[in-house]
Amino acid sequence: MSIDQSVSDVQSLMQRKRVEGLMEAVYYCYGSAVVGDIAEFGTMTGATAYGIGVAMLAVERQYGLPAKNLDLYDSFVGLPEPDRTPDTGSPHVTLGHWAAGGCQGISVTELDAMMREALPEDRYRIVEGWYSDTVPSLPGDKRYAMLHVDCDLYGSTMDCMVPLFEKGLISRGCAVCFDDWMCNQADPAFGERKAFAELAERFDIRCSDWGAYTWSGARFIIHDYNGCPK
Ligand SMILES: C[S@@+](CC[C@H](N)C(=O)[O-])C[C@H]1O[C@@H](n2cnc3c(N)ncnc32)[C@H](O)[C@@H]1O
Repeated sequence: MSIDQSVSDVQSLMQRKRVEGLMEAVYYCYGSAVVGDIAEFGTMTGATAYGIGVAMLAVERQYGLPAKNLDLYDSFVGLPEPDRTPDTGSPHVTLGHWAAGGCQGISVTELDAMMREALPEDRYRIVEGWYSDTVPSLPGDKRYAMLHVDCDLYGSTMDCMVPLFEKGLISRGCAVCFDDWMCNQADPAFGERKAFAELAERFDIRCSDWGAYTWSGARFIIHDYNGCPK
């Protein structure tokens, strides 16, 4: 076997473990009857969105469960300026891995074409724009059963999650998958770790740690918080 083939096999394995972790969360939120839809914050290549979409159809067909919808949120122009504390001092920002415009992926049209292979057109929604503009305008009766938070920065994580908690849109039992939990040398002072710690305090979140998936991700189940729907 060539070294190129071996390298490619390792890369595929790591990506498969990431998508597998998300697929398990999809199965959990259907299997455990968690109320609401699924959202992804950070679509870039469309790979994880596609995996989530396919898993939704699979679990629905396997167990005859009622359909959920998938909301896909991205700026489609990459990361915003990482100009907020603690992002300004985080290892990934200071090393230049996370810069404004970085992580820009496929276009809305390309993502739409990809998602049509996974889910019927009326089952997913592509929401283009900065989270600070798009998420606060969600209707008050929206509910999420699963969130895939894959937007790297502390600031972006706060921008998408604060309005969801403030408006009580996160259901009891919601699975939250943080893709970048182990980034920034896994330092809790930065990124998604810092954001979730602040959210937990601000909204008095009661949650279970569901553990790691692939090298970078961590999953939690939300049980209760201030403003949680009954
Ligand atoms: C690491 S990539 C996501 C990878 C993706 N899940 C995949 O499978 O390829 C991070 C994405 O988050 C988006 N993003 C980060 N912060 C954002 C914000 N504040 N508003 C909107 N999109 C944001 C970026 O545009 C980028 O596409």
